[in-house]
This record gives sequence, structure tokens and C-alpha cells, in this order.
Amino acid sequence: MSLPEREPTVVVDDVHIVYRVHGAGSGKGSATSALSRIISRRKSPSIREVHAVRGISFTAYRGEAIGLIGSNGSGKSTMLAAIAGLLPTERGGIYTNGQPSLLGVNAALMNDLTGERNVVLGCLAMGMTPTQVRRRYDDIVEFSGINDKGDFISLPMRTYSSGMAARLRFSIAAAKTHDVLLIDEALATGDQAFQKRSEDRIRELRKEAGTVFLVSHNNNAIRDTCERTIWIEQGELIMDGPTDRVVRAYEKGERP
Ligand SMILES: Nc1ncnc2c1ncn2[C@@H]1O[C@H](COP(=O)(O)OP(=O)(O)OP(=O)(O)O)[C@@H](O)[C@H]1O
Ligand SMILES: [Mg+2]
Repeated sequence: MSLPEREPTVVVDDVHIVYRVHGAGSGKGSATSALSRIISRRKSPSIREVHAVRGISFTAYRGEAIGLIGSNGSGKSTMLAAIAGLLPTERGGIYTNGQPSLLGVNAALMNDLTGERNVVLGCLAMGMTPTQVRRRYDDIVEFSGINDKGDFISLPMRTYSSGMAARLRFSIAAAKTHDVLLIDEALATGDQAFQKRSEDRIRELRKEAGTVFLVSHNNNAIRDTCERTIWIEQGELIMDGPTDRVVRAYEKGERP
């Protein structure tokens, strides 16, 4: 028997991403200039550019769970949104094998609908058949733990705490096997018990042969779930390698 080949799922090739902020002014943020602008009703026509990702390259393989770390504003969420296909690249290319799902966006829940309806609609939106939804429904609700403190699943989402809503969102997304699952700090909102459960589920999803990206400021969550980690600062890739080595360098602030 030959060794299984490593199958690339995401190839990021020298990617640059630039946000364009319209009407952001010239950058002179003084109160008097703002006041005179308001009084004269002059709209500043300028466009400010934010170069959020600057030439990042890496390849992810099937079965990998990859942590993305870096300080606030370093470009982690931008990178995930670009892999999900939600942001255009200025330069370079992103190639994915399979459908990437960004947790929290793909399962955009509706506040006025009950948790129950959101589970069903969320699953259908992810491409599950009604039969599959019926079969998975109880597991999703149980995993979310929404009903632990009473019959909340039949109440509208707007009555949920932010942690409860995040748990339901994660539970819906985690019900399906994803080719490429992108998770942006979704775990941070749940309580201890739920965090533990979601980490276990990420490990399962990984075994089910997808690729998982996890953005988190919780280095232990990264250590527990990812064997590989990418460290980004100011839109540039600082380090890419085994989690223990990269996270240790990040914690010590030691750049290679
Ligand atoms: N919609 C936007 N318009 C303009 N600039 C943006 C936008 N979103 C992010 N940025 C800028 O892009 C850069 C990277 O932001 P990003 O949200 O990717 O950082 P992050 O690493 O996810 O940070 P955090 O750890 O705080 O979540 C920052 O300088 C930020 O100000
Ligand atoms: Mg972010």
C-alpha cells in the first residue's frame, strides 16, 4: 500500500488585501477641521486605503487544523474572510479545493425567528436535505445546550444572551462536515463546558477529513486544537510551523 498523498485544500499565494474607506477624510483628525467640514457641508472625497494583508503565502492540507495568531489588527480576520471568498485580493491568489465556510457568516441567524427555525434554516442553507436536518436536529440542540436551562429553543433568538447565540451558531455550523471550516474566535464566547465541547468537535471535524482554521487569542485553545500555527503581524507572515514552537515564540515576542 502506498502512502496517502497530502492533498492541498487551500493555497494562499502572495496575497495582498487592501480595504478602501470612502469619505474618511485626509487623516487630519483635529476637532476644528472636522467642525469646519461639517459647517461648510463639504464632503471630503478622499479614499483612505488600509493595506491589511501584505504578501502572505501558505498551503493548507486536508486533515490539518491550523491556528492563526497575532496581535489586534494584524490581519487574521481579514485573512479568513479572504479564504472564505468574501474579500477580493489586490494581488496574488487564493485557491481552495472544496467549499470554505466561515463560521458565523454562513450561519447568519435571524433574530426574530425561534432557535428551532434558525437551526432548520441554517442547516438547509448549508446544503443539507430536509431528511438530514430532521435526523441531525436533536443532536444540534443538545450540543448547543440551549435547552439546559428551560425551553429556550422555541423562543426568538433576540431573547438569547450573546453567548447562547454564539453557541447555537457554532452548533449549526459544526453539524455538517465542512471541506474548509474557518472559525474566528467563536469559542471565546461560550462558557468553560461549551468551550471544551467545541474543541472536541473541532478535533472530530478534522478527523472527518476537512481543514480547520482557528483564529483565537486564547493560546491554550490553539495548543489544544491545532498542530500547526501561523503567526501574522501587520499583515505579514512572521512564522509558520508546529504550534508549540510558534506559540512559544509569540508569547515571548521572539521573532525568528
Ligand atoms: N472593513 C474594514 N475597513 C477598513 N479597514 C479594515 C476593515 N476591517 C479591518 N480593517 C483594518 O485591517 C487591519 C486588519 O484587521 P483585522 O480585523 O483583520 O485584524 P485581526 O487580526 O482580526 O484583529 P483582532 O485580533 O483585533 O480581531 C486593521 O488595520 C484594521 O483596522
Ligand atoms: Mg479579528
